[in-house]
Amino acid sequence: SHRKTLWTRQGVSFLHAVTKETLDVLPSFQIRDDDIVVASYPKTGTNWLIEIVIKILRAAGKTEESSDTMTVGPMEVQRLTALQPGYMKLAELPSPRLVMTHLPIQFAPNGISKPQNKVKVLVPMRNPKDTAVSMFHFLKYLMQMMGEKDDLRWEDFVQDFSSGIVPYGDFCDHVSGWWQMREDPHFLFLKYEDMKKDLLSAVKTIVTFLGVDLDESTVKGIAEASTFNNMKPDLDNAAAAERRHIARKGIVGDWKNYFSTEESEVFDAWCEKKLAGTGPTFEFE
Ligand code: PPS
Repeated sequence: SHRKTLWTRQGVSFLHAVTKETLDVLPSFQIRDDDIVVASYPKTGTNWLIEIVIKILRAAGKTEESSDTMTVGPMEVQRLTALQPGYMKLAELPSPRLVMTHLPIQFAPNGISKPQNKVKVLVPMRNPKDTAVSMFHFLKYLMQMMGEKDDLRWEDFVQDFSSGIVPYGDFCDHVSGWWQMREDPHFLFLKYEDMKKDLLSAVKTIVTFLGVDLDESTVKGIAEASTFNNMKPDLDNAAAAERRHIARKGIVGDWKNYFSTEESEVFDAWCEKKLAGTGPTFEFE
């Protein structure tokens, strides 16, 4: 089972690639005002957003880096191929840095999670059913990488997902935690389903949020280059092996190929209960 890839801290499950030492030091990690942060639950469109942000920064002349040199993975993760966790590498990078984290808000650097900060934070969101399907495939990939037997069954995984026995813990707790920052103008929440429906509007919103000036045709070009089909080759050929499995299917509604009617009902009831009164809502198709 995937359970042996996990350990727990304060009720939240983490992969072993996120260590106790890292969780201890990250709250005081130095965030810079001109960092751009992407804070997300895993598999909600993090890399999609990161690629768009890098394209915007490049077009605006704010960086000459490529996504291969700018992305060090989630700041809390010790990558398979790296000798140190992401945050150590980040500390050495020049501004503007792209900071990526999957941490629940209570574990994130204070420089990100406190309302008085100036740093810009983008938060991708995705409906939990498609997120679960995407994570199911990710865990299978991970277990294969680690040389583990692939005995992860959907029926078991879907139950673990709605019990929070997955990397970064309970989806609903995670999303409602970050959602508390929604009134803060330094935060931008973007839903995967909305981006699929109207990518150009999403790119325009991000451009405005980042405060850069780009002409209409450049913005259109970025949106065009950021569709799943156009972006997939870049991700498939990324320098970091961990990014080459990201572009899987890239659709809304793949959950219907996995959830039974009963699983779907149990899942809906879980979300409804957990998210009641907290605010975030999702579209499932
Ligand atoms: S990770 O590993 O947690 O950082 O994964 P993350 O990047 O958050 O999410 C991976 C899913 O995003 C999909 N993806 C895209 N969808 C639409 N358009 C574009 N351009 C795009 N790029 C990545 C990716 O395919 C994963 O979803 P699934 O459902 O598994 O295909």
